[in-house]
Amino acid sequence: MDQRTLTGLRRDKVWLDSQAGDVGAFRTLVGQKTNPADWPFAIGVEKNVLIYDGSRVRELAGEPDARLELMAEWVDAFSTGPGVIVIKNAIADLSVVDRATEVFNAIIKAEKEGGKAAADHFAKPGANDRIWNSLQKHALTDPDNFARYFASEAIAMASEAWLGRGYQMTAQMNRVNPGGKAQVPHRDYHLGFMSPQQMQAYPGHIHAVSPLLTLQGAVAHCDMPVESGPTLFLPYSQSFFEGYLAFGRPEFQAVFAEHHVQLPLSKGDAVFFNPALMHGAGNNVSDDIWRMANLLQVSSAFGRAMESINRDAMSKAVYPTLLAARTSGSMTSAQIANAIAATAEGYAFPTNLDSDPPVGGLAPKTQSTMMAEALQAGMEPDAFAALVETQAAKRHA
Ligand SMILES: [Fe+2]
Repeated sequence: MDQRTLTGLRRDKVWLDSQAGDVGAFRTLVGQKTNPADWPFAIGVEKNVLIYDGSRVRELAGEPDARLELMAEWVDAFSTGPGVIVIKNAIADLSVVDRATEVFNAIIKAEKEGGKAAADHFAKPGANDRIWNSLQKHALTDPDNFARYFASEAIAMASEAWLGRGYQMTAQMNRVNPGGKAQVPHRDYHLGFMSPQQMQAYPGHIHAVSPLLTLQGAVAHCDMPVESGPTLFLPYSQSFFEGYLAFGRPEFQAVFAEHHVQLPLSKGDAVFFNPALMHGAGNNVSDDIWRMANLLQVSSAFGRAMESINRDAMSKAVYPTLLAARTSGSMTSAQIANAIAATAEGYAFPTNLDSDPPVGGLAPKTQSTMMAEALQAGMEPDAFAALVETQAAKRHA
């Protein structure tokens, strides 16, 4: 192989093109059938999705070997299997779910009265009610109910299976009201929250690792017949390497429209799925079902740096130097961008989505973008320092 071919092939492998991914290969991948014999702990397979029984999960949770075996089965289900499991009765005591529902309804009411209409990712405003950070709000409103809810073995074991110990729980309550429209089918956090252009700034191995950094789940807070629009899934789609870039394209959306599955859920059931699985909430065509689910987004402990850094203080300290360098021309704009990358926070998350909502996309503005824009506009250091403080306050939960 000549050197030019080698460098070109390598570049294409690492820096994915916006047109990456072959729809024929995708169709074959999602054409797989789930064979019940491969999944001994499952109580059944419905529409290619594995079904588990929560009471059996609770029994196995107390048996060290069986617990590991069940979690190992789930790891294969999320990675090479259908990518999605349903655990019936994941929360055994439905009065715990009902009390949490009351807490969430009260929070929705209070937030509406406070004039807050939460912006939602992937759905039109008004179709649903969203509580960002329902985890913290739930814990602070009713700590006893919160503790009983998250005492669930099913939630803990699914999280630990995919992410290992030290996982970081987050939750967002979503209530899709009668008449609520379907979401655009998508992948989830991290890369799933970026525009194709942003995703292309991440090398191929990060496209492979993104699904390993989170687990997506949902607890049903009411019975959800199909007409209420429970989530639509495309089993096996999580294995499609180029999916983050490809799934927004019409030919991939068409495969989803043709092959997706949708399962009714009962109150207390939980669904867990690989965040790279193509999915989206369905249309709520019922007259009277306020379809409430508590969405669980569990993150790996590994999505963190070793040291805590005060980037607010660093940004304020370094800004005057960069402003002077820009004015005098002693640094090029590329060099200034490099210095910003080492100084300011370059990622929009974690944040408080109530006070720091997404702008013009799925993610709020980052500190590094803010710093670059301030320099561009020639903002005075004092004004920039104030901006950093305002922004820091908004991100705090
Ligand atoms: Fe999603």
